[in-house]
Amino acid sequence: MVTRTLPIAGRQPPRPVDPSLDLEAEIARLKNERSATILAHYYQDSEIQDVADFIGDSLQLAQAAKKTEAKVICFAGVHFRAETAKILNPDREVVVPDLEAGCSLADGCPGAKFAAWKARFPGAVAVTYINCSAEVKALSDYIVTSSNAEKIVAQIPRDRTILFAPDRNLGAYLAKKLDRPMEIWQGSCIVHDTFSERKLIALKERNPTALVLAHPECEEPILRMADFVGSTTGILKYATGSPATTFIVVTEPGILHQMQKAAPGKTFIAAPPEANCACNECPHMKKNTLEKVYLALRDLEPKLVMRPDLIEKARVPIDRMLALSAS
Ligand code: 13P
Ligand code: SF4
Repeated sequence: MVTRTLPIAGRQPPRPVDPSLDLEAEIARLKNERSATILAHYYQDSEIQDVADFIGDSLQLAQAAKKTEAKVICFAGVHFRAETAKILNPDREVVVPDLEAGCSLADGCPGAKFAAWKARFPGAVAVTYINCSAEVKALSDYIVTSSNAEKIVAQIPRDRTILFAPDRNLGAYLAKKLDRPMEIWQGSCIVHDTFSERKLIALKERNPTALVLAHPECEEPILRMADFVGSTTGILKYATGSPATTFIVVTEPGILHQMQKAAPGKTFIAAPPEANCACNECPHMKKNTLEKVYLALRDLEPKLVMRPDLIEKARVPIDRMLALSAS
């Protein structure tokens, strides 16, 4: 039998996958057998999105992780998202297709450096984007996502200093929108930093009726050109509800799969990166494959294991976020 082998996160030996398998059918069978659910982010490959039980933005994925009754959560996204699911469900098994699927924002804000930065501002409120490690969450007062950050920051008394980490673009966007100065950690997303103002202007000239929809992780010049700025779900809802028919989408192009499904008669154009590369695709999200989703469900590996004390501390600001997002 011919087999392909896939390494697991550098820690375990490669596991063979029989290439004759119908992976979609096997995944459906295993989900049933294990009482498992697959949660996936919009930036996953379309074939992963198509086997998922739930697809959403960061807030919706956290809410779905909290609500699920499944015994096993297979999280097709990146490490900090699976951690969030585990924090909200410490008694459930959380498996991930690839443990090495990280995030430039989370990786650029190590816990020790964040703690030292925070110590420089005694009495400040630490509002942290969900794209961070559990260590950083445990040191934060509030966790926010791109869909609720504005609402949560607006509720913090104006006489309190706000520390915002780790995304400088989302931080600058919030500070401007709410007219609220903040101390901002200088991190960014390698994907959203790659979009080119020059190429976007040229694309808009070629498609003058197209609306520009951008994620707030993009840099300021891109956001200034946007007709709508919001989370992945926000972008999806705006495009489906708008009377316009053509949209330039300035975020990771994985979202286009659900946009095309929701509005097949509309045209969605993925914004190009500055260089002639595929660097508008998230290399971390794309580490996950359908084979790895199958293996995670078959072997219940790789499994996310976290220290109970860390889970307890990191849960506090996530619960605050979920409570403030409920209404
Ligand atoms: P949202 O899906 O919450 O908009 O986040 C986008 C993102 O950065 C994913 O890593
Ligand atoms: Fe992180 Fe950017 Fe990838 Fe999202 S798209 S996981 S923010 S690197």
